Amino acid sequence: MPGFVVVGSQWGDEGKGKIVDLLTERVDIVARYGGGPNAGHTICVGDRRFALHHIPSGILRADVLCVIGNGVVIDPASLLKEVGALREAGVKVEENLRLSDRAHLILPYHRGIDIAREEAARDGRLGTTRLGVGPTYESKAARYGLRVADLYDEATVLEKVRVVAAASRPAGAALPAELDAPPEEVAEEYVRLGRALRPFVDDTARLLNARLDEGAVVLCEGAQGTMLDLDHGTYPYVTSSTSTAGGACTGLGISPIRVDGVIGVLKAYSTRVGGGPFPTEQDNDLGRLIRERGREYGSTTGRPRRCGWFDALVARYSVTLNQTESLALTLFDVLDGFDAIPICVAYEHGGRRIETLPADPGVLRGCKPIYEVLPGWKSDTSSVARFEDLPRAGRDYVAAIEKIVGCEVGIISTSPQRERTILRPKSRIAHWLPPR
Ligand code: IMP
Repeated sequence: MPGFVVVGSQWGDEGKGKIVDLLTERVDIVARYGGGPNAGHTICVGDRRFALHHIPSGILRADVLCVIGNGVVIDPASLLKEVGALREAGVKVEENLRLSDRAHLILPYHRGIDIAREEAARDGRLGTTRLGVGPTYESKAARYGLRVADLYDEATVLEKVRVVAAASRPAGAALPAELDAPPEEVAEEYVRLGRALRPFVDDTARLLNARLDEGAVVLCEGAQGTMLDLDHGTYPYVTSSTSTAGGACTGLGISPIRVDGVIGVLKAYSTRVGGGPFPTEQDNDLGRLIRERGREYGSTTGRPRRCGWFDALVARYSVTLNQTESLALTLFDVLDGFDAIPICVAYEHGGRRIETLPADPGVLRGCKPIYEVLPGWKSDTSSVARFEDLPRAGRDYVAAIEKIVGCEVGIISTSPQRERTILRPKSRIAHWLPPR
């Protein structure tokens, strides 16, 4: 009954989509456990590209079941758009996609309040994706949220929508007019969307547990990253769900004893979108060069990502919290052209050396990185297939990360293409998920 979790080790956008896509041919089920349409990855079918926000990339494989778990918040119109585009391209979505009947729904009012708050906050903005994700989790915790299952008790939908509409009034701020339709209209629309979603809806926790009992291999896919986790991230500059590995259990309804291993996805440098402290940020030409080489623009919002050097404190923190046993080091080729590559090994704050992440965002903002500088490899790694064939300085960079973070690097991704990936044959990932 093997279950494995794939988790982001930094601030999201580590390239989890590519790693999950690569590993799907070795599993039976891919199950997404948190976040909502704020996440995103692009997949290619022939020469067509699809931006997916809810659906795991495993959907392209005819023999892999994709599950959207109870921990995910759904924008039904946007989910149906993804389904429609895939259907049009001939992908068999009906048979291979299951949506939890317990997942919460984003209503237009949630998006409206997300936008209104961000506009009102000006300089204090969190820089959310403005898709209503945070307010929907708030409704969930406040226990008046609308769930997928509610759409099939049509007589009560309007009353529930009214409650959300009434609760979504920020003091002194109006919602954008296009997101403030009368509850009657919204209820009618959501009942219609519910009917269209019906073929996918299931008790996914029961389904997953039954399939695990039969011996199915399940890959639990996290959204965002450890530093955006509601509890463990750089609060309050975080998302509103549990993006760490523990979220796989609550967000899918599986017990911790079902999880046999955790794979952390880690960029060879650092990025973040939105506000919040980011000690190794390079708000300069170097940062701009990383952004251009890594095409570091948000896949959901198109925003330029803030870029900086690798932060070993963040990576270590993430490995500890998630008990990551193998890392996938991504976007390695982005560093191909640099003469020297700094790794942040500690912070300096108020004359003191700090080796663990402080909880206070004010302290973190004042931390100055202490770097160890490694030589660059200055050669193209994008077609290297074996670890042994990486340039010496490239192998040393990987070894330095393994040493300072205390975890093996099982995968090195040197290009966006699936086949351009080094999977080290002796790694835990190769052992856990052998080819079929
Ligand atoms: P929210 O999740 O839209 O509420 O945004 C809260 C914070 O999380 C903002 O800083 C966003 O930029 C960030 N965020 C949310 N989803 C992602 C993601 O998939 N990648 C990177 N950052 C994200």
